[in-house]
Amino acid sequence: MLRINVVTLFPELFEAPLRTSILGRAAEKGLVAYRVVDLRDHTHDRHRTVDDYPFGGGAGMVLKPEPFFEALEALAPQPPVALLSARGAPFRHDDAVRYSVGEELTLLCGHYKDVDARVGARDDIEEIALGDAVLSGGEFAALCIIDAVVRLLPGALGDFESAAGDSFYDGLLSPPSYTRPRTYRGLAVPDVLLSGDHAAIDAWRREQAKRLTRERRPDLWARYEAERSDGTET
Ligand SMILES: C[S@@+](CC[C@H](N)C(=O)[O-])C[C@H]1O[C@@H](n2cnc3c(N)ncnc32)[C@H](O)[C@@H]1O
Repeated sequence: MLRINVVTLFPELFEAPLRTSILGRAAEKGLVAYRVVDLRDHTHDRHRTVDDYPFGGGAGMVLKPEPFFEALEALAPQPPVALLSARGAPFRHDDAVRYSVGEELTLLCGHYKDVDARVGARDDIEEIALGDAVLSGGEFAALCIIDAVVRLLPGALGDFESAAGDSFYDGLLSPPSYTRPRTYRGLAVPDVLLSGDHAAIDAWRREQAKRLTRERRPDLWARYEAERSDGTET
């Protein structure tokens, strides 16, 4: 069972998402257990202060290091511990896989102007970013990461094949999907998908996955080609 800890100023943001759909069912099945920790529980003053003015001046408040350090001491988690940060390494499918195979994952959510840099500088903390855009807080990024990780746990999805066919799983974007009706407003489903020829359908999907990746994600395509020339592609 994977234990996921989240340290946040806003525990209430996690209540419904962690109870709902795949995340909730995975917990009910005992595949994952969530522990959401209120950063303010690791303060010692009457006002439960978590932030302070930035040294050197400037707008906005900075989250203090002590509550994060003390929350981690109380949790004593197994690695990995990740601080959500726009400056972090981009979160990728490989990270979701790496997190999903561990025993424990701890996510630290920042808020306001920033988190004191001594948190992310710890050797036992990695900084991870969700996209090249700044969010108001790490909570929604943490929820996205939890969702990406939990759906990879064996048994979390009704049909594990549906994760295996998803984008990034084999280094490519997923091919397009269609359902009924066969023709809608003059837009027809590709004939091959109606042919019943499974080998032809697999080949078409593979070609579409390659085409989409080449056109839309040259970065992924270059990596895929490099791995294929190394002989690591299936
Ligand atoms: C307003 S942001 C701080 C942004 C910071 N001043 C900067 O420019 O990098 C507050 C918090 O939201 C979270 N956050 C913002 N953007 C993020 C992103 N792209 N990925 C992950 N976390 C993010 C981080 O925890 C961050 O400490």
